[in-house]
Amino acid sequence: MCGIVGYVGSRNSVPLLIEGLKRLEYRGYDSAGVAVLNGHGLETRRAEGKIAKLEQVLAVTPAEGGLGIGHTRWATHGPPAERNAHPHLSNDGTIALVHNGIIENYAELKQGLKAQGYVFHSDTDTEVLTNLVQELYGGRLEDAVLAALERGEGTYGIAVVSTRDPGKIVAARKGSPLLVGLGDGEHFIASDASAILAHTREVVYLNDGDLAVVRKDGYRVFDMKATTLDRPVAKIDWELAQIERGGYDHFMLKEIFEQPQTLENTMRGRVVLEDGMSKLGGINLSHDELLTIDQVIITACGTSWHSALIGEMLIEDLARIPVEVEYASEFRYRNPIVTPNTLCIVISQSGETADTLAAMREAKRRGAKTLGLVNVVGSTIAREDDGGIYLHAGPEIGVASTKAFTSQVVALALLALKLGRKRQLSSVRGREIAQALLDLPAQVKQILDRAPEIEALAERYKDAQNFLYLGRGYNFPTALEGALKLKEISYIHAEGYPAAEMKHGPIALIDENMPVVFIAPHDAVFDKVVSNIQEVKARRGRIICLTSREEHMLEGLVDHEIRIPPTLDMLTPVLASVPLQLLAYYIAVKRGANVDQPRNLAKSVTVE
Ligand code: M6R
Repeated sequence: MCGIVGYVGSRNSVPLLIEGLKRLEYRGYDSAGVAVLNGHGLETRRAEGKIAKLEQVLAVTPAEGGLGIGHTRWATHGPPAERNAHPHLSNDGTIALVHNGIIENYAELKQGLKAQGYVFHSDTDTEVLTNLVQELYGGRLEDAVLAALERGEGTYGIAVVSTRDPGKIVAARKGSPLLVGLGDGEHFIASDASAILAHTREVVYLNDGDLAVVRKDGYRVFDMKATTLDRPVAKIDWELAQIERGGYDHFMLKEIFEQPQTLENTMRGRVVLEDGMSKLGGINLSHDELLTIDQVIITACGTSWHSALIGEMLIEDLARIPVEVEYASEFRYRNPIVTPNTLCIVISQSGETADTLAAMREAKRRGAKTLGLVNVVGSTIAREDDGGIYLHAGPEIGVASTKAFTSQVVALALLALKLGRKRQLSSVRGREIAQALLDLPAQVKQILDRAPEIEALAERYKDAQNFLYLGRGYNFPTALEGALKLKEISYIHAEGYPAAEMKHGPIALIDENMPVVFIAPHDAVFDKVVSNIQEVKARRGRIICLTSREEHMLEGLVDHEIRIPPTLDMLTPVLASVPLQLLAYYIAVKRGANVDQPRNLAKSVTVE
């Protein structure tokens, strides 16, 4: 989604803004721009398309200045076009503003401004806000911004500069992340820490409703009543190398190959093998609370929702607590049953997904305890939940979620183990699960070593128009996830289905042109899945089968076999998802798709 970066200090802001915007590219965008303040006033450069286009514009008409703001836009109001790109200028040319989010009452505000003679050059809600700041300006930029925000309804992360009040960036947040980066004689603002990580690791996260005035030599945070606030300084512990491709062709491939390490990181210090138990320091649930939970709701979107489905089975299997899984976007628009003993687990890689955040707030409002499974440290969900389990998978830059998914499943298994051991799960069974968890990183490594086999398979199927992914039990969600990976980066239509449900509709699609990926490890439902494979074979579908040992039942039945190491049924999704990630990746690359930034998609979806 949209990205914001800002700089005030002694250096020329333009290269810093461009560098920051490039670091935000992964979030998805369709146009970009910068505005800088210097002795000559405000200079704005914008371009539709990639940041390289903006660089070309800057090469032809350079700009320079020690204070600047930059933006990558993901279109909401008006198509991708230079006129709709940010920063937007006020009618009198004194104010430049960048904005993430949506001003919902912009049409009404625009009408009022038009009646006062304001002219609009874009289709955006942002230009309306910019002119409203001009209209309300009375001597101090922050006062005008505050007054404008009081009139605007909706969500925002904004940065504003003005020739009339130079030397400062005014930033504000409601529903769209923003932070202040602290440097020595210079300060930054950014919607995502990766934009400024090369320059500082000390940041102050703004909360919803916060505003900040950021200058070269300091910053001040205050609320909508203009009361100064004391927000803590946090330290980012990511390394710069973690947000670089490090020799891989794409971030997605790097992140797939990182999984042996990321799984270890998710489990580090949390698996107590001898007790068959897990240690989860941040969940903030007492022994009694853990025992009195009588219902779990898991809410999430996209890939995180798929891990939620696996979490449902894990918790019901190990702890015998009833679990409901809810799409976050649906949860708050119905009337869910939440009891005082409901635990609401909120899963989000980014910790910023607007629907998931809203669902968590709704669950809290209804009295549930909330537990966040989040990857990005310091993100909004991580700061607002009652307790949490950080995934520690490191920054995930590829839009297609890979390492976060496997870490989510492992974190859910750790939680289910804890809930189960507090109840009826035996220590013997607990130890078996703990050992199987600890074996996962090496097993993932074995799968990755066979990536060339999957690449060859991708060559064979890269021109397919459709794919079906089928699995049962723990691997029905794996099928959904495999299909999502393929469709989002290769643009091949793919559907995930419970294998047996296929005969109630999708079977009509099967002919010799339909590749069907079966996820069939040797688990409790293996024989049943083989029957489903027979049904596809009888209709001449092309069968790619993921299984976990040599199976005579599969001989002559499947066209291709992908072998994964054996593990407990409940952990098979972790292993099975890795070859599916690789298959999607190689097919997308062979089709020439932009794997890390697929069309229309954003890394973190911060609008409803
Ligand atoms: O950051 P989140 O986990 O909350 O993101 C949820 C979805 O937007 C995300 O998983 C999306 O579906 C990915 N593109 C999947 O690869």
